[in-house]
Amino acid sequence: MLTEKDLLDDLKISRTTLWRLKKKGMPCIKVGSSYRYDRTDVLKWVNNNQHGEYPIDYFESARISENLALPLAYNSLKSSLPKIKNNYKINIPYLLKHNKEYLNKLLTIGELDELQTRLSRYTNDFQGNDTVKIFTEEYLSILKKRHQNEYIENCDHKLDKFINNKNDLKIIWGDCLNALKKMQSESIHLMVTSPPYYNAREYSQWENLNSYLEDMRLIIRETYRVLDNHRIWVFNVGDVFDNDNLKTKSVWGKRRLPLGAYLIKIFEEEGFEFVDDIIWDKGEVESQRHKNGGINYPFYQYPLNCYEHILIFHKHRLDTSKIPCPICGSLNVNGNTQSEIGVQSWECKNDKCLERSPHNRGKRFSLRSNMMQDADRRIPANEIDEFTLSKWRRDIVKFPPVIKIDQNGNNRVGHSAPFPKDIPEMAIKYFSSAGEKVLDPFAGSLTTAIVAKKLNRVGVGIEINKAMFKSVIEKRVVQEFNGQTTLLEFNF
Ligand SMILES: C[S@@+](CC[C@H](N)C(=O)[O-])C[C@H]1O[C@@H](n2cnc3c(N)ncnc32)[C@H](O)[C@@H]1O
Ligand SMILES: [Zn+2]
Repeated sequence: MLTEKDLLDDLKISRTTLWRLKKKGMPCIKVGSSYRYDRTDVLKWVNNNQHGEYPIDYFESARISENLALPLAYNSLKSSLPKIKNNYKINIPYLLKHNKEYLNKLLTIGELDELQTRLSRYTNDFQGNDTVKIFTEEYLSILKKRHQNEYIENCDHKLDKFINNKNDLKIIWGDCLNALKKMQSESIHLMVTSPPYYNAREYSQWENLNSYLEDMRLIIRETYRVLDNHRIWVFNVGDVFDNDNLKTKSVWGKRRLPLGAYLIKIFEEEGFEFVDDIIWDKGEVESQRHKNGGINYPFYQYPLNCYEHILIFHKHRLDTSKIPCPICGSLNVNGNTQSEIGVQSWECKNDKCLERSPHNRGKRFSLRSNMMQDADRRIPANEIDEFTLSKWRRDIVKFPPVIKIDQNGNNRVGHSAPFPKDIPEMAIKYFSSAGEKVLDPFAGSLTTAIVAKKLNRVGVGIEINKAMFKSVIEKRVVQEFNGQTTLLEFNF
């Protein structure tokens, strides 16, 4: 972006001429009481008007013929560009200097030292779009470390090392509440699971519905802490037909228990934002519910149960620490209202910033919009294929459940209740980038982590029932990856 003075100097025209050019439509942007000129827009405009659309007196100081005037301006502008660009070099020393006042206020002396040390790797020659990005990443990682340090004493460093080592397929054997409590805050990029459905299986038994929901609440609370900020939890759960064991233990106490609804409320109370309930249509699922002895009269009819919920929650922990403008790297930013609950948005107030809206507002941004618009995420490895997009376009999606029992009546997948790969596949493609860590705290046969690895993410599972799942998982990993992959295990 050029200042008015830059433009006048380099075109060697008077202010009046410039004023007339502007009246004729030369593009400019008002910044406070002055103007800025986008060099590409001006060049385009001058270029388009080279053929004499405007009379010569716009260039009165040059007093040259109409046919030469605009090409001359064009050339002059073009040759002046590198010079002007050099007036405003964004490099790391510039950003540190420009932001000095803010950094002194926002960081402790130790944190500022650390930032400077980390950035000292980048010399004056290091420039370009990456400069702002690197400065921002290092600055944000210091803020993140500050947040993580609030909990660090409870963390298990061996577990942390295990989760962060290079291997991209891992299982933690143990109770997920216990494991989550020992994990670093905001260290996982996406969570996907299907939890035990109350007392739906022989291996999961709670005294009553409330004790189940309380256990889930404690786990959900820890996942809120462990999930990175502005990231997503994909939670597949079905409503079950069971006895809540609160009013009666009799078989007559069996009724529809809307686990999805109860859990949504708990997720919200623990800080998550409920965003979507995608209905998974499983087709005709075996159940006894519709059987009425062929009585085709009122009050005897119940539908077959054939759906589950895929609940989608966002974590937006409100963080009001200033973040740099993604365009110019300035911390001269003002807080706007939250763009959604928990998402602090900012507006750049640096009048040298290269981007302004058509309404002359500074760049507006948030941690969430920076993440979503990050060019480094828009790479082929993260592009979602058309098939997946069209499959999940509507909020009712039909695909078959995993058939556990084969034609000979044998259980093909051990004693697990696996979900089909479709669910983690959508979750991982929609809500993570290659290389990120995906956690399933109720791993079962490790479906989520296996799909994550296949999609070049790091897949981590936590499973309490080692006796039941160890061999199932080991066999499955060999099959899925033709024996080419090692599974790392962590035992509590
Ligand atoms: C519905 S299954 C998950 C199946 C999995 N999605 C798959 O594809 O195989 C739920 C799993 O959670 C496990 N589980 C139950 N309570 C747990 C806990 N507190 N910590 C870790 N795992 C637990 C059960 O052993 C079971 O394997
Ligand atoms: Zn800016």
